[in-house]
Amino acid sequence: MKTKSVEVTIERMLPGGMGLAHADERTVMVPLAAPGDRLRIKIERTKGNVDFASIQEVLEPSPVRVEPPCPYFGRCGGCDFQQLNYQAQLDAKVEMVRDCLRRIGGIENPPDFQVTPAPNQWRYRSRAQWQYDSIRKRLGYFEAGSRRVCDVAECAVLTPPLQETLQDLRRRMLDGSLPEDVRDFRAIVGDEDVSLAPPLDRQAVVDVTRSIYGEVYSLNAESFFQTNADLLPPLIEAALGEAGGETAIELYSGVGLFTLPLARRFTDLISVESNEAAERFARKNLANAGLANAKIANKDVANWLETLECAGNDGALDRSRKNQRESGLSQSPQIKSGAAVAALRRPDFLLLDPPRTGAESRVINAILRLRPKRICYVSCDPATLARDLKKLIAGGYTLDSLAAFDMFPQTHHVETVVHLSG
Ligand SMILES: C[S@@+](CC[C@H](N)C(=O)[O-])C[C@H]1O[C@@H](n2cnc3c(N)ncnc32)[C@H](O)[C@@H]1O
Repeated sequence: MKTKSVEVTIERMLPGGMGLAHADERTVMVPLAAPGDRLRIKIERTKGNVDFASIQEVLEPSPVRVEPPCPYFGRCGGCDFQQLNYQAQLDAKVEMVRDCLRRIGGIENPPDFQVTPAPNQWRYRSRAQWQYDSIRKRLGYFEAGSRRVCDVAECAVLTPPLQETLQDLRRRMLDGSLPEDVRDFRAIVGDEDVSLAPPLDRQAVVDVTRSIYGEVYSLNAESFFQTNADLLPPLIEAALGEAGGETAIELYSGVGLFTLPLARRFTDLISVESNEAAERFARKNLANAGLANAKIANKDVANWLETLECAGNDGALDRSRKNQRESGLSQSPQIKSGAAVAALRRPDFLLLDPPRTGAESRVINAILRLRPKRICYVSCDPATLARDLKKLIAGGYTLDSLAAFDMFPQTHHVETVVHLSG
């Protein structure tokens, strides 16, 4: 079969990081393109009205196109923006967030915002996950769109301690001393050490500490932590803004990145996190900081919110005590009665920082019933953010401000912080 080859001009970058073009009145999406590129492309597959293509030849490069410095670029699935100069990466991210807000969120005129650039465009990643194929002796990242491991000896976005850890793992892979049954390694950089999971020479995964914005966090490679530590101070500032008051709720709290600064600003804080290891670290981090006014519920967010509602709605103390126990709040000295649980209705502030999939409908609906005075939504996926904002705005909230952070240079990913009130 003859493969179809066409010439197109890239109009702009789309959420997801592909370039948009049109050919024969059809929409074409082209990975690794730059806006303004004149390209010869090959249609690889078709889905509905959209063709997905690959670049055969750059006929006329866009003025923002640069030579990708990484030898694995194009094969490795880790980076997909190295073909753009840095300003073009930032511009594309503004456009991607706006596009999602408009098309998915129905928000035509969002507040103005910029993407705060990363201080380091390379060597910024302080957390990584490496795939390991023990049969083919490959260690690195999945190839783009596949589960094949791209063997990566040097990764240009890793911080030096993580690059050293990758090199060490590679040496062990080559001398046959890596365990055969491991599929991936996760690593995170602390102030003095690197935590690696699964551990190699030690019995258990090493805990490390990380000092950020005046707080000290204990954590390890098994729990979530943000990838780009350089941008965490401005991210925390943007998320908390002027927030302060009596009651706050934090959903998807991890090891407590926002929990500690929130606990300093509110009289009572409850944070919810389903990962047991992360919740344990968050408790430890609060205790080490001497913050006794915050409690962590080790629960699924949707279930916790619904349990909380039952406790608030049902005046019977026995029932609410049972619900408090179930909601993980029984240790809280602040929340002793059904009335106090009910006081969590309309809290002063609610911060949510869900995974890429965003918040479930159950979560958004429960937030709408809880009616916090202010909401801060921290998101690493503008598409699910826009979907959730649409529901919050339809539920009576106003979008007050928007900020974005380039936590992941050389990739299409972007972190967004949105404030709402209602
Ligand atoms: C994007 S991370 C944010 C963590 C933290 N805010 C931070 O910045 O380090 C999302 C967190 O939500 C947790 N999580 C995911 N699904 C959850 C759920 N259904 N209920 C509670 N926590 C959940 C994950 O374990 C992870 O720690």
